[in-house]
Amino acid sequence: MELTGRLAAIAAYVPAGPVVADIGTDHARLPIYLVEKGICPRVLATDLHEKPFQSACRAVSEHGLADRIEVRLGDGLRPLVPGEAGVVVVAGMGGNTIRRILAGGPAVLAGVKSLVLQPMADAGDLRRWLVDNGWRLVEESLVEEDGHLYTIMAAEPGWEEISDPWLLEVGPRLVERCDPLLLKHLERIKSEYQRVLCCLARSRSQAAERKALDLTVKLNRIREVLARCR
Ligand SMILES: C[S@@+](CC[C@H](N)C(=O)[O-])C[C@H]1O[C@@H](n2cnc3c(N)ncnc32)[C@H](O)[C@@H]1O
Repeated sequence: MELTGRLAAIAAYVPAGPVVADIGTDHARLPIYLVEKGICPRVLATDLHEKPFQSACRAVSEHGLADRIEVRLGDGLRPLVPGEAGVVVVAGMGGNTIRRILAGGPAVLAGVKSLVLQPMADAGDLRRWLVDNGWRLVEESLVEEDGHLYTIMAAEPGWEEISDPWLLEVGPRLVERCDPLLLKHLERIKSEYQRVLCCLARSRSQAAERKALDLTVKLNRIREVLARCR
């Protein structure tokens, strides 16, 4: 099984050894890769919907891996029994869906040593949930595929105070180590702030003024980081 850049970057964050649960597995490419490469002894691959569940079952059986990849149908962490998986991967869903999945399974998460997450949007909301709920962001990276930038994060149990909401929005580990794609990531965020600022300029309400001020401060933060990382 060959993986494209996004899935390969997710696989690179999976620690070798423990049983992995891949939540929302769809085509089961990641579990097949992890087992074929000997990174994981066993994977529990789950999906909420019947069609991806069937497609995962088919792919696993075509690769002759049904003894090492168990495909289960169900919502979020519900198909898992506490203690079964040491690593949980949730990729290719919105950040708020990932947050709800994690929040919905505290007993399963209690035995998990590593989370590997790839939100399609709302990464800031997901980071906020992680740091508020006993997870430390260990690593983050950006991957570009088909013109899209994807954020991949690894978290471990632990506490870390990140009180700066802007850092949580942008990615504290990406900023710290000037990720190679950080400039592109920040340029995109900057364009979005500027678009919103243009819309706000048409309003005279106090709420719009407050929001515009907040965005101007954030734009300055982006300029500072761009100057440091260029
Ligand atoms: C876009 S695919 C991502 C597939 C794969 N994880 C990847 O990154 O390439 C999202 C998958 O998540 C599944 N899904 C969505 N919500 C889910 C939930 N609450 N629990 C389990 N699976 C879910 C969908 O059925 C779909 O197969």
